[in-house]
Amino acid sequence: MTTADGTTTDSTAAGFRALVDGRRAVRCFTGQQVPEAVIRDCLETAVLAPSSCNLQPWSFVVVTDPQRLERLHPVCLGQRAARAPLIIAVLARPDTWKSACQEILQRWPATEVPPAVERFYTTSAPRQYNQGQLGWRGLLKRGLTYVTGLRKAVMRTPNSQGQMRLWAVKSTALAAQNLMLAFQSHGYATCPMEGFDEKRLRKVLPLPRQAIPIMLLAVGQPGERAIHAPRLRFPVEQCVTWY
Ligand SMILES: Cc1cc2nc3c(=O)[nH]c(=O)nc-3n(C[C@H](O)[C@H](O)[C@H](O)COP(=O)(O)O)c2cc1C
Repeated sequence: MTTADGTTTDSTAAGFRALVDGRRAVRCFTGQQVPEAVIRDCLETAVLAPSSCNLQPWSFVVVTDPQRLERLHPVCLGQRAARAPLIIAVLARPDTWKSACQEILQRWPATEVPPAVERFYTTSAPRQYNQGQLGWRGLLKRGLTYVTGLRKAVMRTPNSQGQMRLWAVKSTALAAQNLMLAFQSHGYATCPMEGFDEKRLRKVLPLPRQAIPIMLLAVGQPGERAIHAPRLRFPVEQCVTWY
């Protein structure tokens, strides 16, 4: 593995591989609580994920309150994995790009915001992500993109509310994986769950209307028969094409 300063560190590669290899979907947890310091560290690791234009379109709802966890169990269709001492709702946020553009400029990590950066977040990004009421801007952009795209390469998405949802989910899924690996590195197991009823989830957790709960992450120490089956993956040649 090559680091940012150009050195090769085989042990980093081996350590990373072992961490990824060690993560399994765990379906049974002990009641042992996850310390708040661990949760905070893992969330900080999660948001180190890359995101489209660095707009960080994600948010997280951390649930440790026993009463709320009890209510989440039926929401997760009564799954064993949902009997965990900690559940984190991972939310994709197609609705936060506008405030994120402003926040990037406010938080720019230098005294001066470079003019190109300022232009990007005040002009280009809003053009790219503002789909207008009922998506009318997106529709217009689709037409313009089609015409311009006849002559040169153009970025064709996102230009609808649906594509904005996909846009946010892409980056958020990367943060979710970081989150799972971070817990793994602290010695805690996880189970990502998409088996839940979103309508009922919104009754237990007051989520912003446009937020997309992409998964509920159960976290804790593995209990009995925590892993259901040996690891199964298709041969990598089956899913890779080389040119
Ligand atoms: C998006 C997503 C949703 C999942 N939903 C559930 C779920 O609702 N319940 C569950 O027990 N496992 C769930 N899983 C876990 C997968 O079943 C598991 O990752 C897969 O079988 C591979 O096993 P491994 O993670 O142990 O390698 C989900 C995984 C992902 C990525």
